[in-house]
Amino acid sequence: PSIRRHVSKHQFVVELSQCLFDFVVQLLPTPEELAVKEDVRKLLEKLIRTIEPNSRLLSFGSTANGFSLRNSDMDLCCLIDSEERLSASDLVTILGDLLERETKFKVKPLPHARIPIVKLSLDPSSPGLPHGIACDIGFENRLALENTRLLMCYAMVDPARVRTLVLFLKVWSKRRKINSPYEGTLSSYGYVLLVIYFLVHVKNPPVLPNLQQIPPLRPIPRDEYYMGDHNVWFFDDIDVLRQRWQSSNTESVAELLIDFFRYYSRDFLYNSGVASIRAGLLQKESKGWQNQSDSRPDLRERNRLCIEDPFETDYNVARCVTKDGLYTIRGEFMRASRILASRPERALLALTQLCE
Ligand code: GTP
Ligand code: MG
Repeated sequence: PSIRRHVSKHQFVVELSQCLFDFVVQLLPTPEELAVKEDVRKLLEKLIRTIEPNSRLLSFGSTANGFSLRNSDMDLCCLIDSEERLSASDLVTILGDLLERETKFKVKPLPHARIPIVKLSLDPSSPGLPHGIACDIGFENRLALENTRLLMCYAMVDPARVRTLVLFLKVWSKRRKINSPYEGTLSSYGYVLLVIYFLVHVKNPPVLPNLQQIPPLRPIPRDEYYMGDHNVWFFDDIDVLRQRWQSSNTESVAELLIDFFRYYSRDFLYNSGVASIRAGLLQKESKGWQNQSDSRPDLRERNRLCIEDPFETDYNVARCVTKDGLYTIRGEFMRASRILASRPERALLALTQLCE
């Protein structure tokens, strides 16, 4: 007779959910780390104000959207509230010089990048930051501040399930080495959008509402929800949402994770589909993203995986994912699916195996 104890599905998902919560909690940043980061932000803001007195330095990305892991880097955006200001690339050069003179950071200005930024880092061993710090400062990236707020609102609608899923997938994708756009795989931002797409548009009943399609409580003028050509409206009144939105989906976080891996290994239409959290499943063709037959190889590679940015809708967040990258990512989704479907006797073992 098999020595393997039979684990019922119910028992497995209950155990796995608990393991997921425990696993994720120990990876959250410590209060000390958050405090040090906030001090760094304030210090940098003070220095930038010696160049541009009317500027503010704001956090975006994981430090601001509730999806931060221990030792994750810091994304900062400088907003300048004045008409006359230097160009982003000049600011990057000047700020780079200033930070080099005035701080202990390693400074690397990138004034000619598509989005000019200053990269900063601090070596390990400073108090409160045993792993050092890495930080990017950009300018006037208002859309990134808005999409950060959108993700944060999604996290707040159902923190237990959304945050646990996202944080687990971030760790998993980093450990499995499929979280690096520079090497042809997907950014954290891309994975978060895949999770939200799944919870809003794939699960039935949905776990999350579509915040971009809920109308405002009272009419608001167009210029308040447009940034240039981009409609950045979404319903952000969390108190109202928590009162009005009760998902009738009661699946546990483990069931959702299992289904997430199954969906993206088997069911998502990679060849023709575009995942849009704003509008559901779209067609590559209708967005003009079907350029697989393009003679230019760089363009041919561009739209293997298509994830529409919630606000910059003509922008494919997964444009860096190459053919090989997508093959690897899908292989990882399948591997994860297989491990979870085998329901190892101990749920913790499944998680360890998943991330090894
Ligand atoms: P970790 O750094 O891995 O902890 O994750 P993160 O949540 O900070 O995500 P990531 O570094 O991938 O992105 C940080 C922020 O930059 C996102 O929240 C977005 O606001 C913005 N961002 C990143 N990639 C893109 C992109 O391709 N398009 C746009 N519009 N914004 C992006
Ligand atoms: Mg980041």
